[in-house]
Amino acid sequence: MITKPTIDKIMEATDIVEVIGDFVQLKKRGANYVGLSPFANERTPSFTVSPVKGIFKDFSSGKGGSAVTFLMELEKFTYPEALRWLAKKYGIEIEETVESPENREADNHRESLMIVTGYAAKFFHESLLDTDEGKNIGLSYFKERGFSKDTITKFELGYSPDQWEAFSAQAIKDGYQEQFIVESGLSVKRDNGTLYDRYRGRVMFPIHSFSGRVIAFGGRTLKSDKNVPKYVNSPESEIYHKSSVLYGLYFAKKAIREEDNCYLVEGYADVISVHQAGIENVVASSGTSLTVEQIRLMGRLTKNITILYDGDAAGIKASLRGLDLILEEGLNVKVVLFPDGHDPDSYVRKLGTSAFKKYIEDTKKDFILYKTDLLLKDAGNDPIKKAEVIREIVESVSKIPDSIKASVFIKECSYILQIDERALLSELNKMRAAKARKDSQQSSTYSKPEQAPDEINWDEPVDQKTKDDDSQEKEIIRLLLMYGNRMIDWDGIANTYIGPFMIAELSDVEFDHRVSKEFVEIYRKEVENGVLPDEQHFIHYPDKEIVDLTVTLIATKYTLSENWYEMHRILVPDEQVNMKATILGAIFHLKKQKVGNILENLRKELQTTTAEADQEILLSQYIHMKKVEKTISDYLGSVILK
Ligand code: UTP
Ligand code: MN
Repeated sequence: MITKPTIDKIMEATDIVEVIGDFVQLKKRGANYVGLSPFANERTPSFTVSPVKGIFKDFSSGKGGSAVTFLMELEKFTYPEALRWLAKKYGIEIEETVESPENREADNHRESLMIVTGYAAKFFHESLLDTDEGKNIGLSYFKERGFSKDTITKFELGYSPDQWEAFSAQAIKDGYQEQFIVESGLSVKRDNGTLYDRYRGRVMFPIHSFSGRVIAFGGRTLKSDKNVPKYVNSPESEIYHKSSVLYGLYFAKKAIREEDNCYLVEGYADVISVHQAGIENVVASSGTSLTVEQIRLMGRLTKNITILYDGDAAGIKASLRGLDLILEEGLNVKVVLFPDGHDPDSYVRKLGTSAFKKYIEDTKKDFILYKTDLLLKDAGNDPIKKAEVIREIVESVSKIPDSIKASVFIKECSYILQIDERALLSELNKMRAAKARKDSQQSSTYSKPEQAPDEINWDEPVDQKTKDDDSQEKEIIRLLLMYGNRMIDWDGIANTYIGPFMIAELSDVEFDHRVSKEFVEIYRKEVENGVLPDEQHFIHYPDKEIVDLTVTLIATKYTLSENWYEMHRILVPDEQVNMKATILGAIFHLKKQKVGNILENLRKELQTTTAEADQEILLSQYIHMKKVEKTISDYLGSVILK
């Protein structure tokens, strides 16, 4: 377990804007920062970061929390993984206490895979630089390709010896567990139970996660034998999901954000050569067609994608469909082709950086216009084929969410296709209408279960009631968060803080909502230990549900006070004017509701109970609770303004 002092140090060092800024483009707005939600597909930014509170709130997906929760949500980190990530970022040394073996195993499965993968990267890198075989074969190959020493170090390139068990044997000898060596795909188990190396006699390209840890490898053969696969790649594992990884992204993300553009190439070698040439905003899809996850990954950093493709048209045509996906995500896509026989790697080496850049600027073409050209050439003079081209182009245009941009494309395409613009527009509108119909059908089937029932089922009134209770309970928690550590300033009570006062007042109330109940328990325990927990305590609480609840409650108020109150020119939210009414009102409203629930249950029991003695007891309870209810009502009426 990571020690409390270490956690405190990490929290102190963490700048939430900086952390989230690694993943989301943020713009300053007032005291906050806003950006497009990385959790939902949205066009107007609803993702808000408050540096003062150290929280984010995503109004699209409803997610919210601290920098730690953000990393857990986005990178699917566990709590300790998120802390480790932050510690690494801020150069904080981690102090740990020993964990029980069971805990360790459950928590550290992914970590173990990463550790053995990192170990392998080091093994391959050292074998490249420090062994004769590595130097003679691997290193000389890289040098021949023009990779500098710095590049080799930066990308942690390596070499796997041309033997069956060089890595496996060394890893076992160094104490790594067979399970993880095999699960990470580094070694393969033979029928007789022994291990052999997956990569033999290959140069190794480690694949890094977004946060810079090695999670997989691509190994390129140096043989020209056609029967040997050119690349052997890591299989899918718990730490490597091919479809959501872009090669080079870790090294490119900063430049992508700065340049507000991402170059997309096909291969490992392309990334490395272009990067080495000083154009660092470059990533590769690693030979597969682009996935939505990969597109979103880029889309978080920039809206502009420039695709750099080999000269041969076959590969491009195959990916044309995939590119529509990029349009759908609202990204701007440009395409650059290289002369026959060249790929970005060979071409940047041929031209040098500035000529290469100029070539890109001069020849880049909007994807749709490019596609139109290409398909048109294919169709020739065949009218049926041409009609099909028109349909396909309009379909691409219909994916563009921005209608102004779409109409510009329609104009240009009408020129290229030599077709009346109005004909294209009418085709476009047809497609849009069809899509809208489909969308609305989908959303109506989704929204059905949420519709309020026409009839309330009196057999189960509790459900209905807990719904109401929920908001009252949450109001209590909101007040604890907002005002818990303020002094009470109303008559008759002195030297007491609002938080402990509320907790004491609520000692006879049972919270129904699970997380709210837990929250109050935590608060109560802290108070009993003589600590007054503030909102930061809950924002950084290890339990995600608690953090979620906290941030939702703070953020609602926060946006309200910033926008709503300002808009209505109410400077002080009125709940602060009369704290007594606010606090006592919330407490007694909740109590009244709980009493209401009890009365409701008693009524039902009275209706079903036939034994006279039982009835009598129930009735006296009922009368008692009625009195309690009246007392509360009177109190609310006389003291409280609400
Ligand atoms: P390329 O064949 O263009 O490879 O495949 P490359 O990276 O440019 O390599 P060089 O320049 O010939 O050395 C592009 C990408 O497709 C994937 C790899 O990610 C490669 O970088 N690929 C290719 C495979 O995964 N397996 C293969 O057998 C071939
Ligand atoms: Mn290549």
